[in-house]
Amino acid sequence: MINTGIAAKFAEKETPFYYYDMDVLAKTLEAAHVAAQKRGFHVHYALKANFNDAVLKAVQRIGFGADCVSGNEVKKAIECGFDPQNITFAGVGKSDKEISYALDHHIFAFNVESIQELEVINELASKHGVKANVALRINPNVDAHTHHYITTGLDENKFGIPNADLEKCASVLKKCDFIELVGLHFHVGSQITDMTVFKSLCVKVNEWKNWFEERGTQIRVLNVGGGLGIDYKNPDGNTIPDFEAYFDIFDRFLERKPNQEVHFELGRALVAQCGNLISRVLYVKNGVKKNFLVLDAGMTELMRPALYQAYHKIENISAAASDEPINYDVVGPICESSDCFGKEVPLPVSKRGDLIAIRSAGAYGEVMASRYNLREEIRFVYSDQL
Ligand code: LLP
Repeated sequence: MINTGIAAKFAEKETPFYYYDMDVLAKTLEAAHVAAQKRGFHVHYALKANFNDAVLKAVQRIGFGADCVSGNEVKKAIECGFDPQNITFAGVGKSDKEISYALDHHIFAFNVESIQELEVINELASKHGVKANVALRINPNVDAHTHHYITTGLDENKFGIPNADLEKCASVLKKCDFIELVGLHFHVGSQITDMTVFKSLCVKVNEWKNWFEERGTQIRVLNVGGGLGIDYKNPDGNTIPDFEAYFDIFDRFLERKPNQEVHFELGRALVAQCGNLISRVLYVKNGVKKNFLVLDAGMTELMRPALYQAYHKIENISAAASDEPINYDVVGPICESSDCFGKEVPLPVSKRGDLIAIRSAGAYGEVMASRYNLREEIRFVYSDQL
């Protein structure tokens, strides 16, 4: 629960806004950093989860690299002080312009998702007179046991080089004079809480690494992607993900030689719990079958519930609210029935003007906001500036 002292400081602020608890962010980053460093692992933060300036700068200060999925993300990472030598560029559809930009900035590696992309990068690198570092994204066909919209590592997904193409890919690579193969890349999905999924991933990584080595191709970097989930149900009891347990799986099950590096692309686990969407109750509607709380925030500010039926904990943080719970459907103002943050949510009796916190919204929240209905640009507040 966001405490009433902090809630009181929101009283004069215009809602809705994202509230970032910079202390939670710092502690989360520190825990991940310690657990990774202990094992010699490299973490690239997936900017797609949140590219808010202060969040990015905190990630950069701790020493993580950046995992980008657009030319603009690469640019943003560089502007925020990330060393290009610590930036990876992934994505199934990189444009020539984006590839050229990344080549000019000598990034650490492109995660390549098809043979055609490999050929395009080779051609552009030759034009730019540079060598492009590349990691091949292999689709490991591992079920992430997560929402189907955020599963990426199955044969039916659009991501990665299909296994059947890898033989051809290895021979194309030999002809690409402007490409240096640095490693292999995998990513099976997001919000994964079942650690056995990562164990299965390790088995596949070992297999593919051996496959390449048997063909005389040395692999320096094993990039196992991101995907570690967080506890949306209990953000206060379980604020910091168990990075020790997560990294330990890879430490135990990933076979590697002393010179082989293990890279991760974590997004959600690093930033989700530090962010909260704060909004006000505009109206309380007691319908025939339902009680509705209509908020001034909607799917335009936080799209996850509408898009993935995602659960976010909802709290009434106004001191004035009584503590007798009533079930409300908590909805936004957007003209879409899917604009609903939660159904039958038990909350204290709530009234117009009460502040509502939607928790664990630091990842894929602000970055997925839209201007649909010509909504205002999203605002944000940092805890250290309150
Ligand atoms: N690496 C790759 C190749 C990815 O596609 C992703 C996320 C990540 C790393 C970071 O994954 P994370 O550690 O954050 O799970 N908008 C959705 C999540 C989409 C994830 C896309 N890829 C959501 O709100 O749940």
